[in-house]
Amino acid sequence: MPETEHTSINARMLGRLEELRRKAQLRELAEVGGVNLYSNDYLGLATDPRLKLAVMETIAQTPRMGSTGSRLLSGHARVWDELEEEFAEFAGTSAALYFSSGYAANTGLLSAILTKEDIVFSDSLNHASLIDGVRLSGASKVIYAHCDMNALEDGLKQHTTSGQRVIVTESIFSMDGDRAPIAEIIQLARRHGAEVIVDEAHATGTQGKAGRGIVAELGFEKEVFAIVHTCGKALASMGAFVCGSKALKPYLINYARSFIFSTAMPPYFAGQVRAALRLVIAMDAEREYLAVLADRLRTKLRELNLDTSASSSQIVPLMCGENEAAVQLADRLQASGFAVRAIRPPTVPQGTARLRFSLTARVTHSDVDRLASAIAQHISRQRRIEEQVVPG
Ligand SMILES: Cc1ncc(COP(=O)(O)O)c(C=O)c1O
Repeated sequence: MPETEHTSINARMLGRLEELRRKAQLRELAEVGGVNLYSNDYLGLATDPRLKLAVMETIAQTPRMGSTGSRLLSGHARVWDELEEEFAEFAGTSAALYFSSGYAANTGLLSAILTKEDIVFSDSLNHASLIDGVRLSGASKVIYAHCDMNALEDGLKQHTTSGQRVIVTESIFSMDGDRAPIAEIIQLARRHGAEVIVDEAHATGTQGKAGRGIVAELGFEKEVFAIVHTCGKALASMGAFVCGSKALKPYLINYARSFIFSTAMPPYFAGQVRAALRLVIAMDAEREYLAVLADRLRTKLRELNLDTSASSSQIVPLMCGENEAAVQLADRLQASGFAVRAIRPPTVPQGTARLRFSLTARVTHSDVDRLASAIAQHISRQRRIEEQVVPG
């Protein structure tokens, strides 16, 4: 059909894209060169020759490249069961089930376990996949102010139901790099009879001994209802494990629509995830390095009086406020050889556009120092321009 047949819907789409452009909110795909500060490859495993080698060996031993179907049909292979057992051990839970993305894991989990009678208490900065999962489930939602335990407790006191009450949070927040008060959340859950689900996406492989995440670091693996560990970030792979009780795995196999109605990942990919997991467990030195590197960047940015929010992880935001300011700084840093991109609404709330520096074990101390000087130069240049515009 020629494009002209769709004039009305095309006009509407173009209008909505133009609206985004006007608000400096239009997102475009781009590969940016330079020191990589915009990837989630926190341990630098994506280019690690040991991972490449392990995957090549796995591919050589695997009879088929495609999975050929959903796990419930021809897509299952024993290697997935083995990997799920290995991952449950890593997470400290009784069982685990692999989904082909973190998005599918969160939407599949939440929509499967929640009913309309249930109430979800959700941190205001939770990831879109958690928000969408709650939406799909039809459960009621109470959003509490980011990491605010008084607000969470007030919510728990006010909102009761004959169904279940579930607190949902990330452990390391993806756009702010701060850490949820998991121990306090669990205490509140105990006191008020609620369940807890923790998305460890940015903590998987980066936090705690052996990279087992924050829930395991604090020893609450058996206390939370479910932990979601993703493989697309520090594990340099793809997919996610929902980890929890023995009953959760068969339940999700039967009720999680994103698991049931989707083609399985190919069996060789289980080999990649397994190799990545084993490497990640042994990377405590890289995790320590990453923590030191992030401290160095935060200190340098704070010395420039810049706002890094409450970051305490390898994710360091530089708050810019308006979209244009973030885009301008990103352009400037790209020109100076740093791969960064501006993060704007709706990924983050209006008025909180930012650059999100995600540090990896491949970034050096001198990269961080050069980045801080490039930012300092940009700021003083902006000040000079402003002084010329507003004589004073
Ligand atoms: C906190 C959080 N949860 C879940 C996801 C989704 O994971 P995936 O990219 O594997 O779909 C992301 C990814 O961006 C995330 O940041």
